[in-house]
Parts: sequence; structure tokens; C-alpha cells
Amino acid sequence: MTVRTRVKQALAEGRPGDTLLLKGWARTVRNGKEVTFISLNDGSQLAGIQVVAEPELANYAEVAALGTGSAVAVTGILQSSPAAGQALELKALSVEVVGGADQDYPMQKKRHSFEYLRTIAHLRVRSNTFGAVFRVRSALAQEVHRFFAEQGFLYVHTPIITANDCEGAGELFRVTTLDLARPPLAGGEVDFSDDFFGRATGLTVSGQLEGELFAQAFSDIYTFGPTFRAENSNTARHAAEFWMIEPEMAFACLADNADLAEAFLKRLCTFALESCDEDMRFFNAQIDKGLIERIEGVARASFARMEYSEAVERLLRAPVSFQFPVQWGLDLQSEHERYLTEQVVGGPVFIVNYPKEIKAFYMRMNDDGKTVAAMDLLVPKVGEIIGGSQREERLDLLKGRMLASGIDCDSLSWYLDTRRWGSTPHAGFGLGFERLIMYLTGMENIRDVIPFPRTPRHADF
Ligand code: 4AD
Ligand code: MG
Repeated sequence: MTVRTRVKQALAEGRPGDTLLLKGWARTVRNGKEVTFISLNDGSQLAGIQVVAEPELANYAEVAALGTGSAVAVTGILQSSPAAGQALELKALSVEVVGGADQDYPMQKKRHSFEYLRTIAHLRVRSNTFGAVFRVRSALAQEVHRFFAEQGFLYVHTPIITANDCEGAGELFRVTTLDLARPPLAGGEVDFSDDFFGRATGLTVSGQLEGELFAQAFSDIYTFGPTFRAENSNTARHAAEFWMIEPEMAFACLADNADLAEAFLKRLCTFALESCDEDMRFFNAQIDKGLIERIEGVARASFARMEYSEAVERLLRAPVSFQFPVQWGLDLQSEHERYLTEQVVGGPVFIVNYPKEIKAFYMRMNDDGKTVAAMDLLVPKVGEIIGGSQREERLDLLKGRMLASGIDCDSLSWYLDTRRWGSTPHAGFGLGFERLIMYLTGMENIRDVIPFPRTPRHADF
């Protein structure tokens, strides 16, 4: 017996009488009279398998003294289990202790707060909640690629080191090899012409601008990669490093963009319910009662679409007092977004056509001269999950917007070139992958849906 079977497969396909080799970690070890029960988990699914060890084992004393968290390799025979809630258990013929764990193992069987578990992020992945989170995260990442592949989208790897600040919000992390203690100076300022790339560079905040270049050749493309923002907002929904999915379509308008976003999000909802059902039932029971019902509703719903102007009117009429002011021309804050999606609409809603002053330079000017063809998708509990727009494809208008936003046209000459030659109406959006996972699992803090979160003052592990 040398081939290892994963616990998931053993429980799904095994039959009483099968002899199997299982390897994993002891989640709990219970000693009965003349018997020891080990709950063995190998990460393949939420539920572990119960291993039954009895005194005839050569090393029974060692097995009976096993600590929570130990790694073991068990050869045994599957048998029907008399215990409630499990059809099969493994009667051990041999138990090899691969890596022991003593009493100091920090995840002894008791409930730990998510705050505490963040301080042991290297171990929290061995818990039920984080096992479920990262299985769902992995499955969804794969489904994202399947969705776009089926629709004929090209997958493009946009650069991580860049000299452009796509969103123009000044949140670029600097990338440099200059000696920070003695940087070269020119006219009192740091002289980046001596830096590695011969210019100031940073970590990308979005792959969109490069994605647009590819859309003008391949029609439909998407990126899915890490993005970085040095925004000092210590909230439960912001991370300094997060993953974003950004599709971009040539020959497309804002309505096409919203249609794609709606189809995409619904597909991911349906997929999570169908393919991650054990983990989703866990979240529904332990993290967020009503989660499954809500996601089933979203998968069936037709998403509402509301003008920014109407959203502002609704907020002004709202019988609640907000912390931040509401006024046409001001950006919507998280509290406003949640009120709109939770109270006004009761489901996902696209807010479209925002004032140009509060949106990025690349968004297409509407005929009213005041608003741009932007869309934010808001969902209950999370707020903004998608941000996107139709892009300004008219060279003169785009240049005008860049000038007004203080963006140097020369530094983005390559971007402007796409408007010079073969320009098309085009549109795209960005879905924050962590926001999606929060939405689908009910986890309320972004730090708990990314393996090793990077937030202000935290870059451990
Ligand atoms: O709305 P944003 O800033 O849009 C863009 O970056 C566009 N370039 C996307 C595009 O049109 N191709 O960000 C898109 C999404 C947000 O809706 C949110 O879900 C997520 O990215 N996001 C963050 N997620 C976690 N932490 C942060 N600091 C985030 N900032 C944005
Ligand atoms: Mg946004």
C-alpha cells in the first residue's frame, strides 16, 4: 500500500473493506477506553475522517498521546461507522507519526477569534473556517478563467511594475533601487533618472491601461493579477495588496459592460453554490445565516441599474442620518452604497453615470458634458464590488480630460496612440477578488479572505 488517497475521495468513493493509505493532520485526538479517535484532515474537504486506533497497534501508546496538529500517515480499513454524522471511518492497521505537535500548538480545539488567528496566519489555514475560505477562493479563481475562456476572452498578463498611476489617485507604492539614505538629487528633488528603470516606477494599481491596448488587438481580453494601493485606509474592505479581475471589450458600450458584469457575477454565485456546497453550507451555518438564500437570490435576480443622480435623490430622501454629506457631485461613501443596495434596492445595483470630477480621466464623457459613462456595482454587505466604465475613445476629448486632471500626455503617449489609430468604443471593469470572496462566504474582513494580508503597518509572513 503505497498510493495515498485523499480524504475527500476516500469518503466519497470508498467502500467498507477497502484498505487505504491516508495522510493528514490530526484536528482532534480523543481517548476512550481502549480506543483513540483521531479526526484526520488533509485539506481536501471540510469534514475529516475518523480514524479508530486500538491497542493492538505496535505504537499504540505513541498514538494515544498524539497532540492536536500532528501529521500522521495511516494505513487502515474503511468500515461503516456507528457514530452519527459519518458513514465511514478508518480502522487503523498502522499509524506513522510523521511530524508530532506538542501542547504548545496554538490551535488547540477551542474557538479562536479571527483577530487572534490573523496573528498566526501561518497556522490558521489548518482551521475549518480558513480551510473553507481558501478552498472557495481557489475554486473561484479557476472558474474565473473557465468563464472567460468559454466566452473567447484572451488572458493577458499585464505588468506589475509600472510608471503609470492608472486611477490617478496617487496611491502607487514606489519601486526603487536607489540608496534611500543618500538618493541622487537634482534641483533639490530625487533624481530618478539614476534609478533602476531610469524613471520613477511603482507597483501597479490596475492592469487596465495595458489591458486596453490588448483589447484593441484581441477584441475581448481580461487580466487577473495582484494590484497594489498605498491608500492609508484601515477598513475591513481595503487591502494594500489585492487581486483584481479586469475584462476589457472593444466595440462595446456601458450597457454591454454591465451585461458582462452581471452574467459574470451570477455565474460565480451559481458555481460557488454548486461546486463548493460543503464549504458554503458551513459558511451559512457558522458565519452568515441566510448566506445561501441570498446568493441563490442574486444568481436568479436581474440586477437593478440606477443613475447616480437618482441615487443622490434617494439618499437625500432617506429617513436616516449619514455620517458623510450627500450632495450631487460628491462621491458615494460606503454607508451610502450600502444603504442603496440594502435598503433601497434590496439586491445588487449598478450605479451609472457619475459626475466627471469624481471619476478617473479615462472614462467616456456623456453628452450632458457633466457625467461620465461609469458604473459601480454595489452589493449588500460589501458595497462596491465592481468598478468600471466605457472608455473615452475620442482623442481630443481624452487629451482634454488628461489636461484637466493634471496628467502628462507625453507620459501616456502610447495610450493616446490607441485613439489615433483604429480607435473603437470600448469598455471594461474591475472586480476585486477579495470583495467577491467576502460576498460569497459572508466573511466580514478582507484580512480573512486573503492568505497573508497586507494592510497599513502589517506585512507579516
Ligand atoms: O474601482 P476601481 O479602483 O477600478 C479600477 O481600478 C479600474 N481600473 C477597473 C477597470 O475598469 N478595469 O477598483 C476595482 C475594484 C473595486 O470595485 C473593488 O472591488 C476592488 O477593485 N478594490 C479593492 N479591493 C480591495 N482593497 C482595495 N484597496 C481595493 N481597491 C479597489
Ligand atoms: Mg471604484
